Amino acid sequence: MNIPQSEMLRVHATSPESSAIERAATLLRAGELVAFPTETVYGLGADALQPQAVERIFHAKGRPFSDPLIVHIALQEDLKRLTSSVSPLAQKLIDAFWPGPLTLLFPASSSVPKQVTAGLPTVAVRMPRHAVALAVIRAVASPIAAPSANRFMHVSPTTAEHVHSDLAGRVPLILDAGPCTVGIESTILDLSTAIPKILRPGGVSVEALRTLVPEVQVPPQRHTTHPEQSPVSLVQQAPGQLPVHYAPSVPSILFEGTKEAMYTAMLAAIRRSREQGERVGVLIADEDSEVFQDSGALLYTLGNSAIPEELAAHLFAGLRFLEASGVQVILCRSFSEQGLGLALQDRLLKATGGNVQR
Ligand code: TXA
Ligand code: MG
Repeated sequence: MNIPQSEMLRVHATSPESSAIERAATLLRAGELVAFPTETVYGLGADALQPQAVERIFHAKGRPFSDPLIVHIALQEDLKRLTSSVSPLAQKLIDAFWPGPLTLLFPASSSVPKQVTAGLPTVAVRMPRHAVALAVIRAVASPIAAPSANRFMHVSPTTAEHVHSDLAGRVPLILDAGPCTVGIESTILDLSTAIPKILRPGGVSVEALRTLVPEVQVPPQRHTTHPEQSPVSLVQQAPGQLPVHYAPSVPSILFEGTKEAMYTAMLAAIRRSREQGERVGVLIADEDSEVFQDSGALLYTLGNSAIPEELAAHLFAGLRFLEASGVQVILCRSFSEQGLGLALQDRLLKATGGNVQR
């Protein structure tokens, strides 16, 4: 698929212009792709009920067909088109967290194309909280399948510019409503097991889920990669559970330990790299700026270390900024895993491919 250009169309984030929404809906109804903002990250959308449209998503991203997609709806009644089974617990979670960054797995009904589910018996569904996403879905009057709008294995996009830099020429229209407010992807929750299980930590915290599902299982954070396994075989083993998934194209290291230990190790690593003539990028919090300002590294501050929402909102932009600035290595500090901090740590581990220094 080669579209000479990708049109970027500015749209108001909270009261989107109907002309822009109609342009997007017309393309989607015709089986074309449209990139649009959600509160988590930008999505690459196609009409979920048109198999050929869904296939375009995989071609545009370079994503293996074995990796299933999340379907986005705007009204609860749209769920009936995707599943015939909504448990009382699922309904409680829907009432509490939709619209919002929570994706739930349901038994898929036969009308859901196998391209969406990768042949799995379940379909992943969420109702986004972004006015533009909701308006587009409503205008198409069909559920919209949308993965993050990045090239497969690259950092997720939180601005329209990020989408453009990954997918220019591969999507006819990118709706630009400015930066996403949550900045990391939705939490994926599997309710099919006896004890509900988080498959991916995300924009709804474990603490928030525990108020309704006290027994919810949290996945162990992975610290190691399996370089001998190809990404595709990993996808087939466990959809969405790739250890390396959000990686910048630059080698990166995650530092763990006390703040002082991280500072010492990071400053030493900066010195070593610079002695070898390498340019170094560092991902830190506001409070760390003084420590690193004379280190010779290029700094990107994510925000207040005590506010995980702020750090999460800037993470992907930070990784992309450092990558685009031409550094040869990216060093990241870690943060508390409270609240959205758990998802932040998950993405840092994935971005660094589990390359952790303690
Ligand atoms: O916040 C989000 O969830 C964003 C925005 C665009 O909504 N979307 C997103 O999609 O992150 P994607 O494709 O980048 O990640 C979706 C993950 C994949 O890793 C996929 O394997 C998993 O969801 N997934 C989808 N359907 C599944 C299913 N039936 N069972 C298990 N995992 C599933
Ligand atoms: Mg993704």
